[in-house]
Amino acid sequence: MTVHPTPADRFSFGLWTVGWPANDPFGEPTRPELDPVESVHRLAELGAWGVSFHDDDLIPFGSDDTVREERIARFRKALDETGLVVPMATTNLFKHPVFKDGGFTSNDRGVRRFALRKVLRNVDLAAELGATTYVLWGGREGSETDAAKDVRAALDRYREAMNTLTQYVIDQGYNLKFAIEPKPNEPRGDILLPTIGHALGFISTLEHEHLVGLNPEVGHEQMAGLNFVHGISQALWQDKLFHIDLNGQKGPRYDQDLIFGHGDLLSAFFLVDLLEQAGYDGPRHFDYKPLRTEDVDGVWASAAANMRTYLLLKERAAAFRADPDVQEALRNAKVTELAEPTLAPGETYRELLAADADFDPDAVGTRGYGFVELEQLAVEHALGAR
Ligand code: GCO
Ligand code: MN
Ligand code: MN
Repeated sequence: MTVHPTPADRFSFGLWTVGWPANDPFGEPTRPELDPVESVHRLAELGAWGVSFHDDDLIPFGSDDTVREERIARFRKALDETGLVVPMATTNLFKHPVFKDGGFTSNDRGVRRFALRKVLRNVDLAAELGATTYVLWGGREGSETDAAKDVRAALDRYREAMNTLTQYVIDQGYNLKFAIEPKPNEPRGDILLPTIGHALGFISTLEHEHLVGLNPEVGHEQMAGLNFVHGISQALWQDKLFHIDLNGQKGPRYDQDLIFGHGDLLSAFFLVDLLEQAGYDGPRHFDYKPLRTEDVDGVWASAAANMRTYLLLKERAAAFRADPDVQEALRNAKVTELAEPTLAPGETYRELLAADADFDPDAVGTRGYGFVELEQLAVEHALGAR
């Protein structure tokens, strides 16, 4: 099938994804560092719409103001030349040894203050480049030992950081919202706000709650053995899906960051179906790592593969929804009936207690739901067999 990504598809990539030189804890890089300017041009040629970055991807840690301005100017020029936008930016609070016990929640108060200054500084750059979402992935916020971290105090400090950042954005008048990215572990043994659910609970305690949502990543929920489609459904239901990191993962193990669809393909099918059905209009952001086995050509092939897989699944999901057999199976399975409120309009619990005298639980208990037939239709559409 011919599918061509265009900017209207709102596909975006982190500079750190295609730019990863493929170093891992056991081996040296297998590819050269990529110049962000080249990445911007190549991504635009492939049909991407946006590019995101950590402060350190663009401006090496510790650069002076001259280098900083020069790097930003080169990047800006590449954006102008290609029309690529910056929908999202983020901060690296995990690479430098100073962050070994975290940024916002380090036991060391000086480190926490340094981390906040680093984020505030990059929030200015994000706003300057037109980003509307600021992602916070707290990879080092956590511990390996329960004795060493007072988690309740750490959550107080996390909240203090979020309240400070949101107040700053309000005072500056920036059109910028924050998106927290949950992850259960890696690099820390246990990371704070490990899942979508934990993060939603935390966000509900914040001063400017409306400015803080989520950036869930496929693989991170799957590392915790959770159903990503369910997690995204709840994030949408609570109006908290501000951004999304699409990639692939094969169950609970280390964070694989595979190409979208190269992990649990059926879950990817239902995810695309959900995002498209729900009218999610944010970036389709790929946060993956081109396999360490690939050369630079393989990097660009992998970037294209992410977008192509999304578009193929979008086409397959639309065919699934349009199929009259599927619509009938959805009705038979009573999937559509779930949208009907349990109580009738104006009905009270008193009336409910006296209602449905003829409801026969034994008879209803024998009725099959037909979920298998429905799921098989989905599998067949996903495989292109219908
Ligand atoms: C991971 C994370 C990171 C973050 C990124 C944004 O794979 O563990 O996804 O890639 O998304 O660093 O801060
Ligand atoms: Mn990841
Ligand atoms: Mn991510």
